[in-house]
Amino acid sequence: MEESIIYTKALRKQYGDVVALTGLDLAIPPNLVYGLLGPNGAGKSTTVRILSTLTRPSGGQAVVGGFDVAREPGEVRKVIGLAGQDATLDDKLTARENLRIFGRLSRLGSRRARRRAEELLERFGLAHAGNRLAGTYSGGMRRRLDLIASLLRAPAVLFLDEPTTGLDVRSRMEIWDTVRELVADGTTVLLTSQYLEEVDQLASAVGVIDHGQLIAEGSPAQLKSRIGSHIDVVVESTDHLLNAMAVLERLTGHRPEVDGSHIAVAAVDPVPSLPQIVRELDASGAVIRDVGIREPSLDDVFLSLTGKTVDPAKPVEAPAAVA
Ligand SMILES: Nc1ncnc2c1ncn2[C@@H]1O[C@H](COP(=O)(O)OP(=O)(O)O)[C@@H](O)[C@H]1O
Ligand SMILES: [Mg+2]
Repeated sequence: MEESIIYTKALRKQYGDVVALTGLDLAIPPNLVYGLLGPNGAGKSTTVRILSTLTRPSGGQAVVGGFDVAREPGEVRKVIGLAGQDATLDDKLTARENLRIFGRLSRLGSRRARRRAEELLERFGLAHAGNRLAGTYSGGMRRRLDLIASLLRAPAVLFLDEPTTGLDVRSRMEIWDTVRELVADGTTVLLTSQYLEEVDQLASAVGVIDHGQLIAEGSPAQLKSRIGSHIDVVVESTDHLLNAMAVLERLTGHRPEVDGSHIAVAAVDPVPSLPQIVRELDASGAVIRDVGIREPSLDDVFLSLTGKTVDPAKPVEAPAAVA
């Protein structure tokens, strides 16, 4: 626990009859991105809200930067920043005006707050748009502005609650670059996400959470190798099916599934490389129209860990295109 910058033990949270966290144990070392991965309703936001002192735990313990969230919330607040899905920006103010308000809340002193705000606007590519109303910002720009607000006081621990949900690909990548820079500067980031791809890109450690409990933990590579990938092959005509199937079965040790001229097969540890697959298919004489390796999705993670897919009543949002 000494070396953990975020530590929870048997952490519980109940909202009336709803048990959101059923006994969460986390021990997160400093100076990395920890990804908390889980479907809608898993308890990710509740965890972040407790760790950032926005709500009190119903039981158990949570310590951030050496301070207990229930007994020393003021101390916790001094070392953390919080940004996420529900941006708290005023649309009728410009970016700079919004930051001035956050600066006042952070008690930095207006001079220092302004200097820091300018630095961050520059660094995250918003200096040119600093005098525009926040209401005119794109989704990606809003998230970056929200992030800047949370960074005015250079926090040791930054909580990012689904920072890219609903963003288009380019905005997501901008946020990812930003997160990487922060960690290079020594910040510890706890990031929640519904996307395996996102934690794979950013996190060096991942906890998978379901129904308020940690159900798996490890590096993204460990998680993925446990779950495996899928190889998809489309043959030119059904004449080539048998050859291609034999190759795929030999390479993966798994029995391929066929649908028309499409073959799919699971590949777990080792996953053959794409060039190797193409070479062997060629050598077999099978003529291929398309071949690809599909990385596991969050759904694959859940199927593998819980034997069920992500609750269909609470679908994982597809990333919507936001201009
Ligand atoms: N303020 C609240 N009042 C009642 N129930 C809540 C409240 N916040 C969250 N919950 C419930 O707690 C569970 C976990 O929610 P949440 O932490 O928001 O999950 P996630 O962020 O992983 O989607 C869900 O069942 C949710 O409906
Ligand atoms: Mg949430």
